[in-house]
Amino acid sequence: MSAFWSGWVKFLVVLNLGITFFLFIWALRVRIPTEPDGTTGHVWAHGVIREGVRNLPLWWILFSAAMFAVGFVYLTLFPGFGNFKGTLGWTSAAELEQDIARNEAKLEETIRPLRGLSIAEMSEHPNATALGYRLFQDNCAACHGTRATGNHALGAPDLTDDDWLYGGSGETILASILDGRQGTMPAWGQVLGHNGVNEVTAYVLSLSGYSVPEDWEQAGKAHYEKICVACHGVDGRGNTAVGAPNLTDRTWLYGGDFASVATSVRDGRHGIMPAWRARLSEDEARLIAAWVYAQNAERRRDEIS
Ligand code: HEC
Ligand code: HEC
Repeated sequence: MSAFWSGWVKFLVVLNLGITFFLFIWALRVRIPTEPDGTTGHVWAHGVIREGVRNLPLWWILFSAAMFAVGFVYLTLFPGFGNFKGTLGWTSAAELEQDIARNEAKLEETIRPLRGLSIAEMSEHPNATALGYRLFQDNCAACHGTRATGNHALGAPDLTDDDWLYGGSGETILASILDGRQGTMPAWGQVLGHNGVNEVTAYVLSLSGYSVPEDWEQAGKAHYEKICVACHGVDGRGNTAVGAPNLTDRTWLYGGDFASVATSVRDGRHGIMPAWRARLSEDEARLIAAWVYAQNAERRRDEIS
């Protein structure tokens, strides 16, 4: 604070205290003019109610005096009077630092016993998943959704199902988080032409059990075996090495209606999962991975029961 503003704050503080103190003294000493009967002479309700005069209650006087004392003591101990720092040396920045240090110590206490565990083992610890859930909300929910069920517009996969682009073991999930992933589906519109795209789209949909025109399906199968098997596999179940999705399960990154699938084939797709190594500590990434893993285990249990 510059000397001018410090002076200005001091002036306001003194002015305020001065005015209140003056009012306090004045209120103690003021004499209200009275009539011979001891009242102010003001009457209401046709003379039934007359306004009397009482001294200020003692509790009010003591309370107000105490508040002045508190004000002076506060301005002596703590910052408040312009640039004067207070005799205790308290600052909000130091308090914040203490809070952060205290939080980190608490976090360290929670995390230490978890460090030796695998992600799968961590996912059984409510402490770990509670922290992981919070970190997921802060860092991942924008793309994957608050319940991790994914987002077709971004091609962010559902992380709660058992359908993985790169694999669903705890360590693979952790690797996806720390180093990111990029899936590249080439554009085939030029190669296949309008009809070819429709035919192979029909074939892709037939893989997950939709009925499609048979001639399209046959023609599409031929394109598929020439071009698509390399990544999506002979049976269409995908390949975790290149992040090629399973095309047989009615679970879609970008939507499973005819138009969306045809767009994927014609224009290609390029889903980008950012790398978090620079933004999250290894501990934090492991906590999130444990929460993601737990969502999956929960879904599997639901399906079994
Ligand atoms: C900017 C959007 C975005 C953010 C933020 C994001 N992701 Fe992703 N994530 C994606 C996309 C898109 C993919 C699919 C990548 C691909 O197509 O190859 C993906 C893929 C993944 C995968 C691989 C899934 C599989 O099937 O193998 C995991 C695991 C994952 N994300 C977890 C997370 C976690 C945990 C966070 C938070 C730390 C996070 N993501 C933040 C967009 C995002
Ligand atoms: C070079 C490997 C590669 C080839 C060849 C390839 N794909 Fe893909 N495909 C991928 C990858 C990787 C993705 C996931 C893209 C992403 O993560 O954003 C994908 C995504 C898709 C999707 C979107 C799936 C969804 O869940 O929304 C469809 C549909 C698809 N491919 C169909 C095909 C068809 C049909 C062909 C043949 C004409 C083909 N792909 C050829 C690698 C390939």
